[in-house]
Amino acid sequence: MCGIFGYLNYLVKRDRRFIADILLNGLHRLEYRGYDSSGIAFDGDDIEGSDKNQSSKSRRACIVVRQKGKVDELDNAVRSLENINWDAEFTVHVGIAHTRWATHGEPNAVNSHPQRSDEQNQFVCVHNGIITNYKDIKQYLTNKGYRFESETDTEVVVKLVKYLYDKHKDENVSFQKLIEMACSQLEGAFALLFKSTHFPGELCATRRGSPMVIGVKCADQLAANHIPVMFSKDFNHQNSKDSRNDAHFLETTTANLRGVFSPPLMITDQAAVELAVTGNDRSIEYYFASDASAIIEHTNQVIFMEDDDLAVVNNGALTIHRTQHGEIIGQSTIREIHELKIELQQIMKGNYKYFMQKEIFEQPESVINTMRGRVNFSTKKVVLGGIKDYANEIRRCRRLILIACGTSYHSAVATRQLLEELSELPVMVELASDFLDRNTPVFRDDVCIFISQSGETADTILALRYCKQRGALILGFTNTVGSSISRESHCGVHINAGPEIGVASTKAYTSQFLALVLFGLVLSEDSISKEPRRKAIIDALQQLPDYIKRVLECDKKIREYAEALFNESSLLVMGRGFNFATCLEGALKLKELTYMHSEGILAGELKHGPLAMVDHAMPIVMIIMDDPVKTKCMNAFSQVQARGGQPVLICNEDDEELIKLVHRHIAIPRTVDCLQGILCVVPLQLLSFHIAVLRGYDVDCPRNLAKSVTVA
Ligand code: F6R
Repeated sequence: MCGIFGYLNYLVKRDRRFIADILLNGLHRLEYRGYDSSGIAFDGDDIEGSDKNQSSKSRRACIVVRQKGKVDELDNAVRSLENINWDAEFTVHVGIAHTRWATHGEPNAVNSHPQRSDEQNQFVCVHNGIITNYKDIKQYLTNKGYRFESETDTEVVVKLVKYLYDKHKDENVSFQKLIEMACSQLEGAFALLFKSTHFPGELCATRRGSPMVIGVKCADQLAANHIPVMFSKDFNHQNSKDSRNDAHFLETTTANLRGVFSPPLMITDQAAVELAVTGNDRSIEYYFASDASAIIEHTNQVIFMEDDDLAVVNNGALTIHRTQHGEIIGQSTIREIHELKIELQQIMKGNYKYFMQKEIFEQPESVINTMRGRVNFSTKKVVLGGIKDYANEIRRCRRLILIACGTSYHSAVATRQLLEELSELPVMVELASDFLDRNTPVFRDDVCIFISQSGETADTILALRYCKQRGALILGFTNTVGSSISRESHCGVHINAGPEIGVASTKAYTSQFLALVLFGLVLSEDSISKEPRRKAIIDALQQLPDYIKRVLECDKKIREYAEALFNESSLLVMGRGFNFATCLEGALKLKELTYMHSEGILAGELKHGPLAMVDHAMPIVMIIMDDPVKTKCMNAFSQVQARGGQPVLICNEDDEELIKLVHRHIAIPRTVDCLQGILCVVPLQLLSFHIAVLRGYDVDCPRNLAKSVTVA
């Protein structure tokens, strides 16, 4: 959805141009989360009458720039600001920034963030999420005389802070307390960053339901040595109702060096978490962002905030407080500094014009990364460290329920048949939103598997919490270390596809698919009767990266087909069996990137309705693999041909008989039936990509969409 970014430098001299560049660059990195409009807030000149001797405390004006359109437009607007001294230096400064995917109010400058409390920008804030009770608060504040300039839910938040400030001014209330009081009135989902002219050099950040990461960077080596030091009050695990809660499943390095060094431990309230990263007088820079891709070029030391955390930076020290008191269910109260393993190069386009294109071509490597350290091709063993301790419990469960949205849901559909075959368990696949709408019965002995690239999809998280409350074992399959789903699951598998920036999911799909296949292999490892099947699959896994490379070699031919198709208004994708999911996924890619009508059609359903759409003019892609459903697919092919349809075939490269029957085909290597979908989807990813480019669309930022849908 929206992307938020904040930067605070403490005792590190930075000029205004540098600060604006950092903020704008952060937004460029987050643009894939929203690209309707954007904005930034940074310090202006000192406000007359304030105490200029205390640089961190003197009041400074706040400049807000907001712009409709992409971040480039904001960049231009900022650079053309008049009467700004770009060389002005600050040893302490707070800047916040936002890129928007509109939920309340059309995309225009006034509805963009930062939203402000008043014309002097005394309080400004950026927000990712939705405040569901904003109308009630707006009414309350309107009755108190507040006037609103935007249609956003966010303006309500920042005006509420101002209202509380005015009300408690004489009590010397802290910034932290103000934000805590304001957030206690909010319902819905949010990640918020606040800055204020009354609290220069201070930044407050909080989240509930929307992600937030804090990057920490020390300017000098001495201080850097002290950075990975965190303190927390001991968390009483008995408090938790759920004994499975503290499973740390992510196979990632965390630098948990608590207790090594002793800066002052700040305990300011009775809530569960208190920690301090630094002492005073140490130069330091903090980065706050919706995701780590915006931070990684500055530092790889990050803290993932949890729901109801309030992070405050004051005098260069970071403290994290709990805004909701009492029992915490399902949350650790220890916040570790994680060492991120992503490289900057992974979030750059390299030689490609688009992220999506790069990500499609990365698939030979991303599938290797999904298998790395997990598949032993000599012994034919598969180990998934993240679920090791739960494997027996999973094998004994009542049902496997796979729950996800969009492309991630398709990975569940793609692997359902294999999971049924290998586990001999009933397997349900569910769209998270529908699953919740139905209040689906869930039992303690169910295993619920949540699949999500971002790990932050609101519908999926809500479904996870619903199942967790009912006592089911929760598995997370995500691509994002530290994401909400990975943290809230009992155990799980990191799919290791690497950062996916293109809004349309490609390499994450093939890695999710593959991770679920590995999961099926783990579940069946004790079954002697399944050994030949397991061996065939594991042998095929070894060849998979090379086979994907061979499919990618069809790129030129697929571009030619795209040239023939890009003016069409519709495209049907048909198939069945293991490739029904490929049809759904291919059609989704076409819809979201090319905006043309597309449907993934189960070939077995053709004669029950969709055949009526078929004539000589209807563009069709058919997937016919040499697998157990080939004969049935051939029936569908004949039905289509009999109505004048001339499908482009995706088929096995050695299926000469079939190839002879059509004018256009994309031939791909033959692999074991249950993995064929990983190869079949690649031509459809490429076809959608080329059609979108030929139509002149920005494939990385399809209209009306955003990566990571953090609102339900
Ligand atoms: C389509 C696409 C979406 C996501 C869906 C779930 O290309 O990317 O359909 O798959 O929004 O997102 P995650 O996997 O992050 O939960």
